[in-house]
Amino acid sequence: MTTEELQSQAVREIEAAGNLEDLKNIRIKYLGKKGLVQDLMNAMRELPKEEKPAYGQKVNVCKQAIAGALDERQKALSVLELNKRLEEEKIDITLAGDQRTYGTMHPLMMIQQELEDLFIGMGYKVAEGPEVEQDYYNFELANIPKDHPARDMQDTFYIDPNTLLRTHTTAIQMRELEAAHGQLPIKLICPGKVYRRDDDDATHSHQFMQCEGLVVGEHVTLADLKGTLKFMADRMFGEGRQIRFRPSYFPFTEPSVEVDVSCPFCGGKGCSICKGSGWIEILGAGMVHPHVLEMNGFDPAKCSGFAFGVGLERVAMLKYGIDDIRSFYTDDKRFLKNFNRFD
Ligand code: DAH
Repeated sequence: MTTEELQSQAVREIEAAGNLEDLKNIRIKYLGKKGLVQDLMNAMRELPKEEKPAYGQKVNVCKQAIAGALDERQKALSVLELNKRLEEEKIDITLAGDQRTYGTMHPLMMIQQELEDLFIGMGYKVAEGPEVEQDYYNFELANIPKDHPARDMQDTFYIDPNTLLRTHTTAIQMRELEAAHGQLPIKLICPGKVYRRDDDDATHSHQFMQCEGLVVGEHVTLADLKGTLKFMADRMFGEGRQIRFRPSYFPFTEPSVEVDVSCPFCGGKGCSICKGSGWIEILGAGMVHPHVLEMNGFDPAKCSGFAFGVGLERVAMLKYGIDDIRSFYTDDKRFLKNFNRFD
C-alpha cells in the first residue's frame, strides 16, 4: 500500500469513528509501535539507498497527516461526549421534590411545656416520680388511709395490695415533701401520667395527665394560691381571665377549693361551652393539710403551703377546642397534624 493510500484509508476511518474509544483503537492501529505506519517505515529497508530519503519523507508526511486528523477528531468527539453527558445528567430543578413528613409535638406535651415554662419562670422546679407507685405515696401520705371513703373517689388499678398505678400526681408531691426532710422552702410542679379505672368516653380516659403545683414556706396563704392561679390562667387562656374559688373537699388540703376560670370563649357572658354560666372549672386546689405537713416532717405551726392539680387534657381541650378526650390517645395522624409546627 502506498503512503497516500494508507493516509486516505486512515482519514476515512477517523472520520467515521463514533466515539473516543474507537478513535483510540484507530490511533493504535495506525500510529502504534506495531502499527501500519511503522510497517511502511519498515518497508524502507528494502529500498535502494538513494530512494530512502524521499520515501522516509513521504511516510513522515503521511504519519503527521494521520496524527493531525486523529487530534482533530478527538477534540470534536470530546465536545460531543461532554455535551451528551451534560444532557443525560441534567437535573430538572422544576420537578416536584420528595415530600418529607415531620413529626408533630403532641398537644399534651405542648401544654406541659407551656406550664413548665411559666412556672420555671417563677422559680419553681419540675419534679418527676414513678407511674407504678406505692400505696403509701399515692394515698397514705396524702392523708387517705386504707379505709378512707376518698379512696372510692379514684378507682385504682392495683398491681398488688401495696402497689398501684398512681391515680394522681399528688403522689409526686408527697415524695418531694418527704424527701425535703422539713427543709423550706418548697416550690415545684410535677407533671405526669395518671391512671384510673374509668370507662373511656368523650370526657373520661383510663389514662390522662395532670400537673401538680406545690409551694410550702413561711406565711404562704390562700391569696398566694389565688394570685398564682390567676397568673397561670392569664398565660394559658389569654390576659384578663378571672378566677373563682368554690369550696370543695380533698383529703390532703384544708381548706379545699374547686377553681373556675372565666370562660375564654365568651369572656364570661355565657355560651354553649360554659353552659351559660360564664365559668369553666379547671382544677382542684387548697392549702396543704396540716396533717400532711406533719406526716412529712414539717411543723404546721411554722409553715404552710398551697397545692393545686390541673388536668392537662382539660386545658388542651379548652385551649384548642377539642371535644373528645380519646383524641389524645388514638394516634390519629389527622388529629395530630393540626398541631404541626411547620405548617
Ligand atoms: N389530686 C386531685 C385529683 O386528682 C387534684 C388535686 C386537688 C391536687 C387539690 C392537689 C390539690 O394538689 O391541692 O383529683
